[in-house]
Amino acid sequence: MGETSRLNGLLTVNNLSKRFGRLQAVKKMNLSIEAKKITGLIGPNGAGKTTLFNLITGVLSPDSGRIVFKGKDITHHKPYQIARMGIGRSWQLIRIFSKMTVLENLMIAANLKQKNALEYAMELLDLFGLTAEKGNYAGELSVGQQKMLSIARILMLDAELMLLDELAAGVNPSEQDKMMKMIHKLCDQEGKTFFIIEHDMDVIMGHCDKVICMNFGEKIAEGSSQEVQNNEKVIEAYFGG
Ligand SMILES: Nc1ncnc2c1ncn2[C@@H]1O[C@H](COP(=O)(O)OP(=O)(O)O)[C@@H](O)[C@H]1O
Ligand SMILES: [Mg+2]
Repeated sequence: MGETSRLNGLLTVNNLSKRFGRLQAVKKMNLSIEAKKITGLIGPNGAGKTTLFNLITGVLSPDSGRIVFKGKDITHHKPYQIARMGIGRSWQLIRIFSKMTVLENLMIAANLKQKNALEYAMELLDLFGLTAEKGNYAGELSVGQQKMLSIARILMLDAELMLLDELAAGVNPSEQDKMMKMIHKLCDQEGKTFFIIEHDMDVIMGHCDKVICMNFGEKIAEGSSQEVQNNEKVIEAYFGG
């Protein structure tokens, strides 16, 4: 741990725990997110995946454990401090402004100090195939396009690590595929790091460098997509009892 995990992981979580009353939502979680890679987080509903993201982004404070980002301890920091350090996040529910245009949605996410924000926004629209929609209300976009727009917004904040929560839910398979390709592109070409929650394993299988599976607040498996998919505990968690 310590020095090695700091060198290997952009983000490391050590012994992180959170309970809600009698419910242990996250239990002694340990993980390391490698820079410029795509890490998947899977697990049945209620496994504690979103709670883990809430802990990492400072929305919730852990009962115990430590979160280290780029060698700095960010445990118990405020969400805005964590965002400012370079951790961006999408929400399970889309949070875009439907009565603003697509371009306006990006511009309001821009850092005031960003000089070429408009130029960057236009680049992102091009990258996400939304250029033709830039003057339309965001509410008129398809669900898949709205999710693309929400990723683009996180990019406007210039986040280094992106936490994406069930981005593919409610998106048709061809748009899911497009989203995953986009994520690969941002990873390979822009050096972005992704940590992606997916309830549906099939969506991220084959797209992640590493997959972690949670159940009842605990990590039950970790490895390649293939390894995790064939892991007995994972199969049991998804299909057992
Ligand atoms: N703010 C909260 N207060 C009380 N219980 C919560 C809260 N957030 C989540 N939970 C509970 O914690 C467990 C894990 O939830 P969650 O992290 O949302 O799971 P997942 O994202 O894997 O579906 C669930 O049983 C959920 O009901
Ligand atoms: Mg969730």
